[in-house]
Amino acid sequence: MKEFFGTLPDGQAATLYTISCGSLTASITDLGATLVRLMVPNCNGIPGDVVLGFDAPEGYLGSTTYMGATIGRNSNRVADAAFTLGGREYKLCANEGRNSLHSGPEGFHNRLWAVKQHLADRVTFRLLSPNGDQGFPGNAEIEVTYRLTQDVLNIRYEAVCDQDTVFNLTNHSYFNLAGHARTDAAMDQVLTIPGRFFNPDDAESIPTGELRTVAGSPMDFRSPKAIGRDISEDYDALNLQGGYDHNYEVFCQPAAILYSSESGREMAVYTDCPGVQFYAGNFLDDHGKEGVYYHKRSGICLETQYYPDAVHHPEWPQPITPAGEKYVSETTYRFR
Ligand code: GLA
Repeated sequence: MKEFFGTLPDGQAATLYTISCGSLTASITDLGATLVRLMVPNCNGIPGDVVLGFDAPEGYLGSTTYMGATIGRNSNRVADAAFTLGGREYKLCANEGRNSLHSGPEGFHNRLWAVKQHLADRVTFRLLSPNGDQGFPGNAEIEVTYRLTQDVLNIRYEAVCDQDTVFNLTNHSYFNLAGHARTDAAMDQVLTIPGRFFNPDDAESIPTGELRTVAGSPMDFRSPKAIGRDISEDYDALNLQGGYDHNYEVFCQPAAILYSSESGREMAVYTDCPGVQFYAGNFLDDHGKEGVYYHKRSGICLETQYYPDAVHHPEWPQPITPAGEKYVSETTYRFR
C-alpha cells in the first residue's frame, strides 16, 4: 500500500509505503527513509505499534529526535566536526556545539529519498549525495531496503562513492515494545546487551577513548535488566550524559535483546556493525502520533554503527569505504 503522507515546505509530497509479511506490518516514509509505524503482535496475538513517530512530515521536520530515520552518511558524533582522510582535512557542519551529530543539520534524515522498488514485503529507497554534501568527500549513491519476513524486519544499507569516504549508516527508531502510547512503560522494558565494555564520553558526548568494562557498574546489561532500574544511579557516565546514551561493543549475536513483560513482545537485534549506541530517550519532549505526548524516556534506541567519533581513533574499526567499493551493512530485528 502507498498513501499520501503530507506536503513538504518546498511543495513536494511525502509518501508512506506500507509493507507486510506474516504478522508484521511496517510503514516507511520517503522523508528520511523513516520507519513511521511497526505493528507487532503481543502475546495474545493483538498487533500494536512498537515505534515512536509522528503523523505527518511537520512532526519529523520540527523535531531534533531523528525519530525512526535513516542516519547518514555518518551516524553519531565527530569531534570538532572535522576529520582527515588521505592526508586531506574535511570540515563537516557542526550542529551540536562545535561537533557534528548524525552528519549535520541537513543529514539524510530529512531528505526526500527516491523509491526504487516497492513490493508487498519490501521497499527500497535511493539517495544521491553529491561531493561535499555536509562536508563529506565524493559523489555517493545510497540505498536502504526495509524487508519483512515472517517475524523479522531487516534493514539493509548499500552505498558506493567515487572517492574514499565515510559510510556509517544506521536507523534511529525509538522502541517501546509495550506499545508507543504506553510511554510510562518504556523504562520497564528489559534489556540485554552482551557487550563487555562501553565508551565513556566527555561532557560534549565525545568518547574519551577509554573502553571501560561494564562489570560492577549500572552500565552492565549482560544479564537482562529493566532499563529504569539503575538509570538514576550516581555514576559518572550516567551523570554526564543524563542517562544511558553510550556505545557498547557488539560482542556476540544478538547484539541486544529487548523485552516487555507487559505485552510479551521480545525483539532481538542482529548486526554486522562493531557497536550499538544505546540511547534511553533522555531528551524526548515531543507530541507524536495519535496525540501521544512522548516525555523524557518514552522509548529507547539501539543504533547499530561504528564506534562514535571512530574517525579520530585509528585503533578502532574505521567507517571508511574506498572509492568504487561497495559498503553493505545489515541490521535484523527479530520479534517473538
Ligand atoms: C543520538 C545521540 C543522543 C541524541 C539523539 C537525538 O542517539 O546519541 O545523544 O542526540 O541521537 O536526540
